[in-house]
Amino acid sequence: MIYLDSALVSEAKTVENWGWVKGITTNPTLLAKSDLPPETALKQLAAISPGELYYQLMATDFQGMVTEGRKAFDIIGDKTVLKVPATAVGFQVVAHLSPEIPCSVTAIYSAAQAAVATEAGAKYAIAYVNRATRLLGDGLALVQEMATILKDSSTEILAASLKSPAEAAGALIAGADHLTLPLEMLDAMTTHNLSEQTIDEFAQKGRGLV
Ligand code: E4P
Repeated sequence: MIYLDSALVSEAKTVENWGWVKGITTNPTLLAKSDLPPETALKQLAAISPGELYYQLMATDFQGMVTEGRKAFDIIGDKTVLKVPATAVGFQVVAHLSPEIPCSVTAIYSAAQAAVATEAGAKYAIAYVNRATRLLGDGLALVQEMATILKDSSTEILAASLKSPAEAAGALIAGADHLTLPLEMLDAMTTHNLSEQTIDEFAQKGRGLV
């Protein structure tokens, strides 16, 4: 699946019209860019999103995270996927909440964390591809290692922090199951200058029903 990485209602409406984007991922930074209070933004996004809507937990203690996760589920409903940070307490929260609310583990930077994510019951393991390339050297190698570790598990890899169409395609080739990208990047994935050129050629030389 390909998701929109945004908390802006206008962008959610745009991809709803496109018809091929399957859901929306948000994070605290993206929610801060909205003019709406988080609760209102999430309600509106949930109404528009064609599928899953990811909400990232901000609390940092176990009880606070569990309470926040349940609150997000009350607001978003059945489309909820919680994004739980890859920390010791985060994995504990995933193990606790997964039976009642689908959870993803976010900000994964090592294959070992992916191994724990699946043991804890996460539906998705989120790899921060471009950040991993910048900070560790090779984000696509991280995706490859995660894919090897998760190949017989029910945990799927969502590649995030992607900065170009080539990197997005590379993540899928490396074994990611899903992608999330900002609106401009999704748009960029649809075009190629040679496609335009080829289509122009047909338009000039060919004929059809119109
Ligand atoms: C994913 O779910 C995150 O919201 C996002 O892709 C993080 O990307 P960034 O590196 O651009 O912050």
